Amino acid sequence: MTIVVTGATGQLGRLVVEALLDQNVPAGRIVAAGRDLAKVADLADRGVQVRQIDFQDPASLRRAFAGAGKVLLISGSEPGKRVEQHQNAITAAKDAGVGLITYTSIANADHTDMQLAAEHQATEEALVASGLPFALLRNGWYLENYTDQLRTYLEHGAVLGSAGDGRVSAATRADYARAAAAVLLRDDQAGKVYELGGDTPFTLSELAAEVGAAAGRTVTYQDLPVGQYTEVLVGAGLPAGYAAILADSDLGIARGELLVTSGDLSALIGRPATSMREAVVAAAASRHEGTVQGADDGWGREPRSQRALKRRRPRLTPDPHAPASKVAGPTPC
Ligand SMILES: NC(=O)c1ccc[n+]([C@@H]2O[C@H](COP(=O)([O-])OP(=O)(O)OC[C@H]3O[C@@H](n4cnc5c(N)ncnc54)[C@H](OP(=O)(O)O)[C@@H]3O)[C@@H](O)[C@H]2O)c1
Repeated sequence: MTIVVTGATGQLGRLVVEALLDQNVPAGRIVAAGRDLAKVADLADRGVQVRQIDFQDPASLRRAFAGAGKVLLISGSEPGKRVEQHQNAITAAKDAGVGLITYTSIANADHTDMQLAAEHQATEEALVASGLPFALLRNGWYLENYTDQLRTYLEHGAVLGSAGDGRVSAATRADYARAAAAVLLRDDQAGKVYELGGDTPFTLSELAAEVGAAAGRTVTYQDLPVGQYTEVLVGAGLPAGYAAILADSDLGIARGELLVTSGDLSALIGRPATSMREAVVAAAASRHEGTVQGADDGWGREPRSQRALKRRRPRLTPDPHAPASKVAGPTPC
């Protein structure tokens, strides 16, 4: 029986396929499904089955899930459309008679009030209503939501947000992917609910301090009223509705709703999760290496030495009207 991974053309899904291959799952037993199969052509070359799906096209889902023992449903990336899309996938999985459907939900889905959680909560309800055996991977925030913004943080000398002193249990996509693979490879997972997040939660002030330490500069956290932070995100080019959802997620962090204390992630992957400090240092090092090679890598357009970076005077006042490239927000969650 095959294991189908939806979203395999995306960042998390690809890492899940790689994790399954690392665990010696035969390539031919893995189905990498997504819209744009060009992104998984290399996996096809390695013997992984690839199948085109669109969550809006039930027939494509039925074709992809035919003969599957297990399906990993990775949540789609189009907020507002996901309940219908996920329902289509659940229906197709039921029609195909899959033995287990595993869904990447959101941390604390059973009690969070974050707007972003609504589609995940509706999907969990749809899974219950389906009668299918299912397992929930309630993923916390990605560390990459932050490390992908190092350039922005350094340009402004600031991390912006509305999370106050709230702590977030973020972890890398790679760690969430290894956990997903572990669940897919275990027996008797029906009914399991995993609350997944990093081992050491952090505040955005602590994040700013680590970014500053990695760059040898002063970076501070500036807590903004949620309306102002929303304006910053809109100024950065995010659609208003999505900017509001992201800013609302920071309020969720302030309320502790992206805090995870279960230890499930490190237990599933068999080692401590990659920490925020490790991720920041790794991201900074890779970007700095890029700078030395002359790339426009987020540490500035001009190649500069670490000493010059340290001399650069930080700008601590965020510019709400900065263009999108200057103040990027995280991707849809
Ligand atoms: N926990 C967090 O912090 C966080 C952050 C961001 C996102 N997320 C959630 O986690 C998911 C995976 O994250 P990621 O980083 O891997 O996102 P990603 O790189 O944007 O990948 C999204 C995947 O969803 C697929 N997809 C989107 N719409 C689809 C549709 N209509 N039909 C079929 N496939 C569709 C994409 O396929 P194509 O590329 O082939 O179009 C892609 O494979 C996201 O989709 C989002 O729901 C969580």
